[in-house]
Amino acid sequence: QTAPRVDVDDLGQYVGKPVQVWGWLFNSRSSGRIVFLLVRDGTGLVQAVVSQRDVEGRVWDQARRLTQESSLKVTGTVRADERAPGGFELLVQDLELVHLAVDYPITPKEHGVDFLLDHRHLWLRSRRQHAILRIRSTLVGAVREFFDREGFVLVDAPILTPAAVEGTTTLFRTDYFGTPAYLSQSGQLYMEAAAMAFGRAYCFGPTFRAEHSKTRRHLMEFWMVEPEMAWAGLDDICRLAEGLVSHVVGRVLERHRPELALLERDTAPLERVRPPFPRVTYDEAIEILRKNGAAVEWGADFGGDEETILSNAFDRPVFVTHYPAHIKAFYMKPAPDRPEVVLGADLLAPEGYGEIIGGGQRIDDLELLMRRIEEHHLPKEAYEWYLDLRRYGSVPHGGFGMGIERVLAWICGLPHVRETIPFPRTLYRLYP
Ligand code: 4AD
Ligand code: MG
Repeated sequence: QTAPRVDVDDLGQYVGKPVQVWGWLFNSRSSGRIVFLLVRDGTGLVQAVVSQRDVEGRVWDQARRLTQESSLKVTGTVRADERAPGGFELLVQDLELVHLAVDYPITPKEHGVDFLLDHRHLWLRSRRQHAILRIRSTLVGAVREFFDREGFVLVDAPILTPAAVEGTTTLFRTDYFGTPAYLSQSGQLYMEAAAMAFGRAYCFGPTFRAEHSKTRRHLMEFWMVEPEMAWAGLDDICRLAEGLVSHVVGRVLERHRPELALLERDTAPLERVRPPFPRVTYDEAIEILRKNGAAVEWGADFGGDEETILSNAFDRPVFVTHYPAHIKAFYMKPAPDRPEVVLGADLLAPEGYGEIIGGGQRIDDLELLMRRIEEHHLPKEAYEWYLDLRRYGSVPHGGFGMGIERVLAWICGLPHVRETIPFPRTLYRLYP
Protein backbone atom coordinates (compact mmCIF):
# COMPACT_ATOMS: atom_id res chain seq x y z
CA GLN A 1 0.00 0.00 0.00
CA THR A 2 1.38 3.40 -0.96
CA ALA A 3 1.62 6.24 1.56
CA PRO A 4 -1.02 9.00 1.10
CA ARG A 5 0.01 12.35 -0.39
CA VAL A 6 -0.55 15.10 2.20
CA ASP A 7 -0.08 18.86 2.49
CA VAL A 8 2.75 20.01 4.73
CA ASP A 9 0.36 22.00 6.89
CA ASP A 10 -1.62 18.81 7.62
CA LEU A 11 1.39 16.73 8.73
CA GLY A 12 0.29 16.97 12.38
CA GLN A 13 -2.52 14.51 11.65
CA TYR A 14 -0.06 11.84 10.48
CA VAL A 15 2.50 11.55 13.28
CA GLY A 16 4.09 8.10 13.23
CA LYS A 17 2.67 7.30 9.78
CA PRO A 18 4.24 7.15 6.33
CA VAL A 19 3.17 9.93 3.94
CA GLN A 20 4.25 11.49 0.66
CA VAL A 21 4.99 15.18 0.25
CA TRP A 22 5.18 16.57 -3.29
CA GLY A 23 7.05 19.82 -3.55
CA TRP A 24 10.21 21.74 -4.35
CA LEU A 25 13.60 21.77 -2.69
CA PHE A 26 13.89 25.03 -0.77
CA ASN A 27 17.30 24.40 0.70
CA SER A 28 19.50 21.53 1.76
CA ARG A 29 22.52 20.83 3.91
CA SER A 30 24.38 17.72 4.79
CA SER A 31 26.37 16.61 7.74
CA GLY A 32 28.30 13.37 7.30
CA ARG A 33 25.89 10.55 6.67
CA ILE A 34 22.75 12.71 6.88
CA VAL A 35 21.20 15.08 4.32
CA PHE A 36 18.57 17.55 5.50
CA LEU A 37 16.20 18.57 2.71
CA LEU A 38 13.99 21.55 3.36
CA VAL A 39 10.96 20.96 1.15
CA ARG A 40 8.19 23.47 0.41
CA ASP A 41 4.87 22.47 -1.09
CA GLY A 42 3.03 25.80 -1.12
CA THR A 43 1.30 25.12 2.21
CA GLY A 44 4.43 25.05 4.32
CA LEU A 45 8.01 23.94 4.80
CA VAL A 46 9.13 20.60 6.16
CA GLN A 47 12.54 19.18 6.86
CA ALA A 48 13.05 15.75 5.29
CA VAL A 49 15.89 13.82 6.87
CA VAL A 50 17.76 11.35 4.68
CA SER A 51 20.02 9.02 6.57
CA GLN A 52 22.53 6.99 4.54
CA ARG A 53 22.08 4.11 6.94
CA ASP A 54 18.31 3.88 6.39
CA VAL A 55 17.87 4.34 2.60
CA GLU A 56 18.94 2.57 -0.57
CA GLY A 57 22.08 3.84 -2.27
CA ARG A 58 19.96 5.21 -5.14
CA VAL A 59 17.96 7.45 -2.75
CA TRP A 60 21.11 8.61 -0.95
CA ASP A 61 22.79 9.61 -4.23
CA GLN A 62 19.68 11.38 -5.40
CA ALA A 63 19.37 13.36 -2.15
CA ARG A 64 22.92 14.60 -2.55
CA ARG A 65 22.61 15.82 -6.11
CA LEU A 66 19.29 17.69 -5.76
CA THR A 67 19.55 21.36 -6.67
CA GLN A 68 17.62 24.30 -5.22
CA GLU A 69 13.99 24.37 -6.52
CA SER A 70 14.14 20.87 -8.04
CA SER A 71 10.69 19.29 -7.87
CA LEU A 72 10.41 16.01 -6.01
CA LYS A 73 8.17 13.49 -4.26
CA VAL A 74 9.34 12.47 -0.81
CA THR A 75 8.04 9.45 1.08
CA GLY A 76 8.76 9.27 4.78
CA THR A 77 7.44 8.83 8.30
CA VAL A 78 6.18 11.89 10.16
CA ARG A 79 7.90 12.68 13.42
CA ALA A 80 7.03 15.49 15.82
CA ASP A 81 10.07 17.64 16.56
CA GLU A 82 9.77 21.01 18.25
CA ARG A 83 13.05 22.24 16.80
CA ALA A 84 12.05 21.56 13.19
CA PRO A 85 10.43 24.33 11.10
CA GLY A 86 6.67 23.73 11.35
CA GLY A 87 7.15 21.32 14.27
CA PHE A 88 7.42 18.10 12.23
CA GLU A 89 9.99 16.29 10.16
CA LEU A 90 9.97 13.44 7.70
CA LEU A 91 12.26 10.45 8.13
CA VAL A 92 12.81 9.67 4.47
CA GLN A 93 12.33 6.21 2.99
CA ASP A 94 12.09 7.09 -0.66
CA LEU A 95 12.63 10.02 -2.92
CA GLU A 96 11.55 10.58 -6.50
CA LEU A 97 13.09 13.37 -8.53
CA VAL A 98 10.48 14.95 -10.83
CA HIS A 99 12.62 17.67 -12.37
CA LEU A 100 16.19 18.68 -11.69
CA ALA A 101 16.29 22.50 -11.64
CA VAL A 102 19.14 24.28 -13.39
CA ASP A 103 21.02 26.99 -11.47
CA TYR A 104 18.31 28.87 -9.58
CA PRO A 105 18.93 32.62 -9.85
CA ILE A 106 17.55 33.60 -6.43
CA THR A 107 20.02 32.38 -3.87
CA PRO A 108 19.95 33.00 -0.10
CA LYS A 109 22.38 35.90 -0.58
CA GLU A 110 21.10 39.48 -0.90
CA HIS A 111 19.73 40.60 -4.25
CA GLY A 112 18.85 44.11 -5.48
CA VAL A 113 15.21 45.08 -5.88
CA ASP A 114 15.41 45.39 -9.68
CA PHE A 115 16.89 41.92 -9.96
CA LEU A 116 14.15 40.52 -7.76
CA LEU A 117 11.42 42.34 -9.69
CA ASP A 118 12.84 40.99 -12.97
CA HIS A 119 12.49 37.55 -11.42
CA ARG A 120 9.14 38.21 -9.78
CA HIS A 121 7.75 34.95 -11.21
CA LEU A 122 10.34 33.08 -9.10
CA TRP A 123 10.58 35.54 -6.22
CA LEU A 124 6.98 34.56 -5.32
CA ARG A 125 8.42 31.30 -3.97
CA SER A 126 10.35 33.03 -1.20
CA ARG A 127 9.07 32.96 2.36
CA ARG A 128 8.55 36.68 2.66
CA GLN A 129 6.60 37.03 -0.57
CA HIS A 130 4.65 33.94 0.31
CA ALA A 131 3.65 35.47 3.65
CA ILE A 132 2.60 38.79 2.09
CA LEU A 133 0.49 37.21 -0.63
CA ARG A 134 -1.21 34.83 1.77
CA ILE A 135 -2.21 37.82 3.87
CA ARG A 136 -3.43 39.52 0.68
CA SER A 137 -5.64 36.53 -0.05
CA THR A 138 -7.17 36.71 3.44
CA LEU A 139 -7.56 40.49 3.15
CA VAL A 140 -9.54 40.17 -0.08
CA GLY A 141 -11.72 37.45 1.44
CA ALA A 142 -12.34 39.57 4.56
CA VAL A 143 -13.40 42.55 2.43
CA ARG A 144 -16.00 40.42 0.63
CA GLU A 145 -17.13 38.88 3.90
CA PHE A 146 -17.68 42.33 5.40
CA PHE A 147 -19.78 43.64 2.54
CA ASP A 148 -21.82 40.44 2.31
CA ARG A 149 -22.53 40.73 6.02
CA GLU A 150 -23.53 44.39 5.68
CA GLY A 151 -26.03 43.60 2.94
CA PHE A 152 -24.12 44.98 -0.06
CA VAL A 153 -24.67 43.51 -3.52
CA LEU A 154 -21.57 42.85 -5.62
CA VAL A 155 -22.00 44.72 -8.91
CA ASP A 156 -18.99 44.47 -11.21
CA ALA A 157 -17.95 47.69 -12.93
CA PRO A 158 -16.59 47.73 -16.49
CA ILE A 159 -12.87 48.15 -17.10
CA LEU A 160 -13.16 49.74 -20.54
CA THR A 161 -14.90 53.08 -20.09
CA PRO A 162 -15.69 56.22 -22.08
CA ALA A 163 -15.12 58.68 -19.21
CA ALA A 164 -12.70 59.85 -16.54
CA VAL A 165 -13.56 59.67 -12.85
CA GLU A 166 -10.42 60.91 -11.13
CA GLY A 167 -9.15 63.60 -13.49
CA THR A 168 -7.96 63.33 -17.08
CA THR A 169 -4.21 63.39 -16.47
CA THR A 170 -3.84 59.80 -15.32
CA LEU A 171 -5.92 58.07 -17.99
CA PHE A 172 -4.63 55.06 -19.89
CA ARG A 173 -6.07 55.53 -23.34
CA THR A 174 -6.89 52.82 -25.80
CA ASP A 175 -8.80 52.49 -29.04
CA TYR A 176 -12.30 51.03 -29.01
CA PHE A 177 -13.11 50.36 -32.68
CA GLY A 178 -12.28 53.91 -33.63
CA THR A 179 -13.55 55.63 -30.48
CA PRO A 180 -11.20 56.54 -27.66
CA ALA A 181 -11.69 54.45 -24.54
CA TYR A 182 -9.93 54.42 -21.19
CA LEU A 183 -8.97 51.82 -18.64
CA SER A 184 -11.10 52.42 -15.56
CA GLN A 185 -9.62 54.66 -12.85
CA SER A 186 -12.53 53.82 -10.54
CA GLY A 187 -15.85 52.04 -10.73
CA GLN A 188 -17.53 54.74 -8.67
CA LEU A 189 -19.85 56.27 -11.26
CA TYR A 190 -21.23 52.84 -12.08
CA MET A 191 -21.64 52.09 -8.37
CA GLU A 192 -23.77 55.22 -8.06
CA ALA A 193 -26.09 53.69 -10.65
CA ALA A 194 -25.95 50.40 -8.74
CA ALA A 195 -26.75 52.11 -5.41
CA MET A 196 -29.91 53.60 -6.95
CA ALA A 197 -30.87 50.09 -8.09
CA PHE A 198 -29.82 48.03 -5.04
CA GLY A 199 -29.52 50.54 -2.18
CA ARG A 200 -26.09 49.20 -1.20
CA ALA A 201 -23.63 47.94 -3.78
CA TYR A 202 -19.90 47.44 -4.19
CA CYS A 203 -17.41 46.58 -6.88
CA PHE A 204 -13.98 45.08 -6.44
CA GLY A 205 -11.57 44.97 -9.30
CA PRO A 206 -8.42 46.25 -10.92
CA THR A 207 -8.16 49.97 -11.60
CA PHE A 208 -5.60 51.86 -13.65
CA ARG A 209 -3.81 55.16 -13.31
CA ALA A 210 -1.00 56.46 -15.46
CA GLU A 211 0.78 58.01 -12.47
CA HIS A 212 3.87 59.73 -13.77
CA SER A 213 5.49 59.56 -10.39
CA LYS A 214 7.70 57.03 -8.74
CA THR A 215 6.66 56.77 -5.11
CA ARG A 216 6.33 54.00 -2.57
CA ARG A 217 2.53 54.38 -2.67
CA HIS A 218 1.71 54.37 -6.37
CA LEU A 219 1.05 51.55 -8.80
CA MET A 220 -0.24 51.89 -12.35
CA GLU A 221 -2.57 48.95 -11.81
CA PHE A 222 -4.06 48.36 -8.39
CA TRP A 223 -7.11 46.70 -6.85
CA MET A 224 -9.80 48.82 -5.35
CA VAL A 225 -12.97 47.95 -3.47
CA GLU A 226 -15.70 50.57 -3.85
CA PRO A 227 -18.90 50.49 -1.80
CA GLU A 228 -21.70 52.96 -2.57
CA MET A 229 -24.84 53.61 -0.50
CA ALA A 230 -28.10 55.39 -1.29
CA TRP A 231 -29.56 57.55 1.50
CA ALA A 232 -26.14 58.12 3.04
CA GLY A 233 -24.22 61.14 4.28
CA LEU A 234 -20.60 61.74 5.22
CA ASP A 235 -21.03 60.29 8.71
CA ASP A 236 -22.51 57.02 7.37
CA ILE A 237 -19.63 56.75 4.92
CA CYS A 238 -17.00 57.20 7.65
CA ARG A 239 -18.70 54.64 9.86
CA LEU A 240 -18.76 52.12 7.04
CA ALA A 241 -15.06 52.74 6.33
CA GLU A 242 -13.94 52.31 9.94
CA GLY A 243 -16.04 49.16 10.23
CA LEU A 244 -14.43 47.70 7.13
CA VAL A 245 -10.86 48.52 8.13
CA SER A 246 -11.35 47.19 11.66
CA HIS A 247 -12.86 43.98 10.32
CA VAL A 248 -10.10 43.21 7.83
CA VAL A 249 -7.29 44.02 10.27
CA GLY A 250 -8.97 41.78 12.85
CA ARG A 251 -9.18 38.88 10.39
CA VAL A 252 -5.51 39.17 9.49
CA LEU A 253 -4.50 39.24 13.17
CA GLU A 254 -6.67 36.21 13.82
CA ARG A 255 -5.28 34.12 10.96
CA HIS A 256 -1.75 35.30 10.23
CA ARG A 257 0.30 35.66 13.40
CA PRO A 258 3.08 33.44 11.97
CA GLU A 259 3.25 35.43 8.71
CA LEU A 260 3.27 38.77 10.55
CA ALA A 261 6.07 37.44 12.78
CA LEU A 262 8.06 36.34 9.72
CA LEU A 263 7.66 39.89 8.34
CA GLU A 264 8.82 41.22 11.74
CA ARG A 265 5.64 43.26 11.97
CA ASP A 266 5.00 44.81 15.39
CA THR A 267 1.32 43.97 15.84
CA ALA A 268 0.64 46.44 18.69
CA PRO A 269 -0.43 49.27 16.31
CA LEU A 270 -2.76 46.84 14.53
CA GLU A 271 -4.38 45.75 17.81
CA ARG A 272 -5.43 49.40 18.33
CA VAL A 273 -7.45 49.46 15.10
CA ARG A 274 -10.97 49.60 16.57
CA PRO A 275 -13.80 51.99 15.79
CA PRO A 276 -14.43 54.86 16.16
CA PHE A 277 -11.42 56.42 14.41
CA PRO A 278 -10.51 60.04 15.12
CA ARG A 279 -11.73 62.63 12.61
CA VAL A 280 -10.18 65.97 11.78
CA THR A 281 -11.22 68.54 9.22
CA TYR A 282 -8.85 69.78 6.55
CA ASP A 283 -8.57 73.05 8.52
CA GLU A 284 -7.47 71.17 11.63
CA ALA A 285 -5.07 69.10 9.54
CA ILE A 286 -3.44 72.30 8.28
CA GLU A 287 -2.86 73.35 11.90
CA ILE A 288 -1.32 69.98 12.77
CA LEU A 289 0.98 70.24 9.77
CA ARG A 290 2.09 73.77 10.68
CA LYS A 291 2.77 72.71 14.28
CA ASN A 292 5.00 70.02 12.83
CA GLY A 293 6.95 72.51 10.82
CA ALA A 294 5.37 72.01 7.38
CA ALA A 295 4.87 75.19 5.37
CA VAL A 296 1.40 74.61 3.91
CA GLU A 297 -1.10 77.13 2.68
CA TRP A 298 -4.83 76.62 3.03
CA GLY A 299 -6.03 75.24 -0.28
CA ALA A 300 -3.01 73.11 -1.08
CA ASP A 301 -3.45 69.40 -1.65
CA PHE A 302 -1.59 67.03 0.66
CA GLY A 303 1.27 65.11 -0.87
CA GLY A 304 3.05 62.09 0.53
CA ASP A 305 5.09 64.19 2.99
CA GLU A 306 2.04 65.91 4.49
CA GLU A 307 0.17 62.61 4.75
CA THR A 308 3.14 61.06 6.54
CA ILE A 309 3.20 63.86 9.13
CA LEU A 310 -0.55 63.63 9.70
CA SER A 311 -0.61 59.88 9.95
CA ASN A 312 2.27 59.96 12.43
CA ALA A 313 0.29 62.39 14.60
CA PHE A 314 -2.27 59.67 15.50
CA ASP A 315 -1.84 56.17 16.85
CA ARG A 316 -4.69 54.75 14.77
CA PRO A 317 -6.23 55.49 11.37
CA VAL A 318 -7.56 59.05 11.10
CA PHE A 319 -10.16 60.62 8.80
CA VAL A 320 -9.49 63.97 7.20
CA THR A 321 -12.75 65.57 6.04
CA HIS A 322 -13.98 68.80 4.42
CA TYR A 323 -11.21 69.35 1.87
CA PRO A 324 -11.26 72.46 -0.32
CA ALA A 325 -13.53 71.77 -3.29
CA HIS A 326 -10.98 72.78 -5.93
CA ILE A 327 -8.48 70.03 -5.03
CA LYS A 328 -11.07 67.26 -5.13
CA ALA A 329 -12.96 65.48 -7.91
CA PHE A 330 -15.87 67.06 -9.82
CA TYR A 331 -18.57 64.91 -8.20
CA MET A 332 -17.92 65.85 -4.53
CA LYS A 333 -20.82 67.49 -2.72
CA PRO A 334 -20.13 70.94 -1.23
CA ALA A 335 -20.81 71.40 2.49
CA PRO A 336 -24.22 73.12 2.71
CA ASP A 337 -23.04 75.88 5.07
CA ARG A 338 -19.62 76.33 3.48
CA PRO A 339 -19.53 75.55 -0.24
CA GLU A 340 -15.77 76.09 -0.61
CA VAL A 341 -15.21 72.73 1.13
CA VAL A 342 -16.65 69.32 0.23
CA LEU A 343 -18.20 66.46 2.18
CA GLY A 344 -15.30 64.18 1.36
CA ALA A 345 -13.20 62.01 3.63
CA ASP A 346 -9.80 60.41 3.24
CA LEU A 347 -8.66 57.79 5.72
CA LEU A 348 -4.96 57.94 6.56
CA ALA A 349 -3.29 54.84 7.98
CA PRO A 350 -0.95 55.39 10.94
CA GLU A 351 2.83 54.86 11.15
CA GLY A 352 3.42 57.20 8.24
CA TYR A 353 1.49 55.16 5.70
CA GLY A 354 -0.97 57.84 4.64
CA GLU A 355 -4.10 57.60 2.49
CA ILE A 356 -5.71 54.18 2.18
CA ILE A 357 -9.30 55.30 1.52
CA GLY A 358 -10.80 58.19 -0.42
CA GLY A 359 -14.49 58.94 -0.69
CA GLY A 360 -17.42 61.04 0.42
CA GLN A 361 -20.87 62.27 -0.42
CA ARG A 362 -21.73 62.90 -4.09
CA ILE A 363 -23.50 65.82 -5.69
CA ASP A 364 -27.16 64.83 -6.03
CA ASP A 365 -28.37 68.04 -7.68
CA LEU A 366 -28.58 67.96 -11.48
CA GLU A 367 -27.81 71.65 -12.13
CA LEU A 368 -24.75 71.72 -9.90
CA LEU A 369 -23.37 68.48 -11.32
CA MET A 370 -23.76 69.80 -14.89
CA ARG A 371 -21.94 72.96 -13.89
CA ARG A 372 -19.06 70.98 -12.36
CA ILE A 373 -18.71 68.80 -15.46
CA GLU A 374 -18.35 72.00 -17.49
CA GLU A 375 -15.92 73.63 -15.06
CA HIS A 376 -13.72 70.53 -15.21
CA HIS A 377 -13.83 70.57 -19.03
CA LEU A 378 -15.21 67.04 -19.13
CA PRO A 379 -17.04 65.88 -22.29
CA LYS A 380 -20.72 66.15 -21.38
CA GLU A 381 -21.87 63.40 -23.78
CA ALA A 382 -19.88 60.77 -21.91
CA TYR A 383 -21.67 61.67 -18.66
CA GLU A 384 -25.28 61.82 -19.89
CA TRP A 385 -26.09 58.47 -18.31
CA TYR A 386 -24.51 59.65 -15.03
CA LEU A 387 -26.66 62.80 -15.09
CA ASP A 388 -29.73 60.58 -15.50
CA LEU A 389 -29.15 59.36 -11.95
CA ARG A 390 -30.00 62.95 -10.88
CA ARG A 391 -33.06 63.06 -13.14
CA TYR A 392 -34.84 59.95 -11.93
CA GLY A 393 -35.23 59.82 -8.17
CA SER A 394 -32.01 61.47 -6.98
CA VAL A 395 -31.19 60.87 -3.31
CA PRO A 396 -28.29 61.77 -1.01
CA HIS A 397 -25.64 59.08 -1.48
CA GLY A 398 -21.97 58.34 -1.22
CA GLY A 399 -19.24 55.80 -0.76
CA PHE A 400 -15.52 55.34 -0.97
CA GLY A 401 -12.67 53.44 -2.57
CA MET A 402 -10.08 51.45 -0.62
CA GLY A 403 -6.85 50.45 -2.32
CA ILE A 404 -5.92 46.90 -1.39
CA GLU A 405 -2.19 47.32 -1.93
CA ARG A 406 -1.90 50.38 0.32
CA VAL A 407 -3.84 48.61 3.08
CA LEU A 408 -1.69 45.51 2.72
CA ALA A 409 1.56 47.50 2.79
CA TRP A 410 0.45 49.07 6.05
CA ILE A 411 -0.80 45.84 7.65
CA CYS A 412 2.43 44.03 6.72
CA GLY A 413 4.61 47.02 7.62
CA LEU A 414 6.25 47.15 4.18
CA PRO A 415 8.24 50.13 2.95
CA HIS A 416 6.79 50.01 -0.61
CA VAL A 417 3.59 48.82 -2.31
CA ARG A 418 5.45 46.87 -5.00
CA GLU A 419 5.59 43.67 -2.91
CA THR A 420 1.86 43.72 -2.14
CA ILE A 421 0.66 42.67 -5.59
CA PRO A 422 1.74 39.47 -7.35
CA PHE A 423 2.96 41.18 -10.53
CA PRO A 424 3.42 44.92 -9.88
CA ARG A 425 2.99 47.49 -12.64
CA THR A 426 5.15 50.45 -11.69
CA LEU A 427 6.57 53.33 -13.70
CA TYR A 428 8.42 51.68 -16.63
CA ARG A 429 7.84 48.11 -15.42
CA LEU A 430 5.59 45.82 -17.46
CA TYR A 431 7.70 42.67 -17.07
CA PRO A 432 7.16 39.90 -16.10
O1 4AD B 1 -8.78 58.60 -3.65
P1 4AD B 1 -9.07 57.86 -4.91
O2 4AD B 1 -8.52 58.40 -6.17
O3 4AD B 1 -10.66 57.76 -4.96
C1 4AD B 1 -11.39 57.26 -5.99
O4 4AD B 1 -10.96 56.69 -6.96
C2 4AD B 1 -12.88 57.33 -5.75
N1 4AD B 1 -13.55 57.39 -7.06
C3 4AD B 1 -13.29 56.12 -4.96
C4 4AD B 1 -14.74 56.12 -4.58
O5 4AD B 1 -15.19 57.03 -3.89
N2 4AD B 1 -15.47 55.11 -4.99
O6 4AD B 1 -8.59 56.35 -4.76
C5 4AD B 1 -9.10 55.55 -3.72
C6 4AD B 1 -7.98 54.73 -3.11
C7 4AD B 1 -6.87 55.53 -2.46
O7 4AD B 1 -7.22 55.95 -1.17
C8 4AD B 1 -5.74 54.53 -2.46
O8 4AD B 1 -5.89 53.59 -1.41
C9 4AD B 1 -5.97 53.81 -3.77
O9 4AD B 1 -7.33 53.96 -4.10
N3 4AD B 1 -5.12 54.33 -4.84
C10 4AD B 1 -3.96 53.77 -5.25
N4 4AD B 1 -3.29 52.69 -4.82
C11 4AD B 1 -2.15 52.36 -5.44
N5 4AD B 1 -1.63 53.04 -6.49
C12 4AD B 1 -2.28 54.14 -6.97
N6 4AD B 1 -1.78 54.79 -8.02
C13 4AD B 1 -3.50 54.55 -6.34
N7 4AD B 1 -4.38 55.55 -6.54
C14 4AD B 1 -5.36 55.39 -5.63
MG1 MG C 1 -7.60 60.07 -2.94
